[in-house]
Amino acid sequence: MDRRNLLKQVGITALGLPFAYSNLFANNQSNDLVEEFSDEKFNDEAFWKKFKKEFYDVSDNFINLENGYFGVQSIPVRNAYFEHIKTINQYSSQYLRGNYPKDFERIMELLAQFSKVDKGELLITRNATESMNIIIQGLGLKKGDEVILNKQDYFSMIETFEMLEKQVGIRIKVIRIPLLPESDEEIVKRYEEAVTPKTKCILTTHMIHLTGQIMPIKKIVDRFREQDINVVVDAAHSFAQIEFGLKDLGADFVGVNLHKWFGNPLGAGLLYVKRDRIKDLRPLFGDSGKNVNDIRKLGHFGTLSVPIILTITEAMAFNEMVTTSLKEKRLRYLQNYWTKQAENIDRVRVTTPTGSDRSCAIASFAIDGLNTAEVVEGLYKKQNVFTVIRHLEDQDIARVTPTLYNNTRELDILLEGITELAES
Ligand SMILES: Cc1ncc(COP(=O)(O)O)c(C=O)c1O
Repeated sequence: MDRRNLLKQVGITALGLPFAYSNLFANNQSNDLVEEFSDEKFNDEAFWKKFKKEFYDVSDNFINLENGYFGVQSIPVRNAYFEHIKTINQYSSQYLRGNYPKDFERIMELLAQFSKVDKGELLITRNATESMNIIIQGLGLKKGDEVILNKQDYFSMIETFEMLEKQVGIRIKVIRIPLLPESDEEIVKRYEEAVTPKTKCILTTHMIHLTGQIMPIKKIVDRFREQDINVVVDAAHSFAQIEFGLKDLGADFVGVNLHKWFGNPLGAGLLYVKRDRIKDLRPLFGDSGKNVNDIRKLGHFGTLSVPIILTITEAMAFNEMVTTSLKEKRLRYLQNYWTKQAENIDRVRVTTPTGSDRSCAIASFAIDGLNTAEVVEGLYKKQNVFTVIRHLEDQDIARVTPTLYNNTRELDILLEGITELAES
């Protein structure tokens, strides 16, 4: 299908909203650019310059290479969000009690298509942390049950398990995975070594937030399926950054973010539970009315931010225009552009596996003999490049996360800064 038609189908004519929100691609120039998107553009700097000008309104006061926290909304998404806020206040409860449930169902259908699962296996949440808490606290872990965590999993999920350790007496085993693995099997083996007959749950992170390493989730899930171990997957960073359907992970429980690489306004996440496992999760929020097999039993949240939810339509349309395939290629190209050069600078250690199936946008580094806090500060003060320090097991690293509005010229400035610091 022609991209523009797809956009019309997904974003512009799909919802029966009671108002006409601004056309996503109202100006002609944008429409011309829509025609240009193709996977071959991944290294075409002139194309990405036009793309930034057309679709992003970001400060030029600094070079933002810390796009791992959340994904800045593109201009059409931001405009649509404003528009939804306005119209929600114009139409008030008449809309919420009227057309909203129908529009909401349509959004769920779009999300199901995008994530390649059934609508009844998805729940919109406020963020990945909420999705993961619904899973972890819903599993009904008991005293003496063992869970395996990776030291590099996200701290909020680790804290949820630590809370259960105190509250119900589960036992936590923490493993370390290799920073630069030679094979998937090397990673799976670390989990194998920690599993015992008491292991009930493994937490895994699809893309590790510290280094950007992509974990072999399907292999981990497949390895422990026979042993009835619940593998719960935190896919906060991989969703809409790299191309996969949620079912490709093979896991029964996955939590993701919509406000990172999907580019929705802040405050949206997604929970996936395989249909026949919904009954195995106990609701975290009080619910007595829904069927045990209905995923909505897990989402008795009360009133949510409707404008954020409605904007999923435009964020989806923007994703459909760019395509995850091109996004993944571009982001990996940008990451490889700087890491491949940084690896050759004396004293610089890249702490991310840079092979194409092992990382994408996010990567990190350290400079031997230098304090990483000073590296991050030095890059900001001297080059105006914003990165972030992360604490990785027994060392500090600087995390660098370019996004679609960044370019190779900015990465050259980063490399200049790293070289200066390494030579100091
Ligand atoms: C791997 C990972 N999981 C979960 C989260 C939590 O996301 P949120 O704070 O939006 O819930 C993050 C946030 O950076 C993350 O990197």
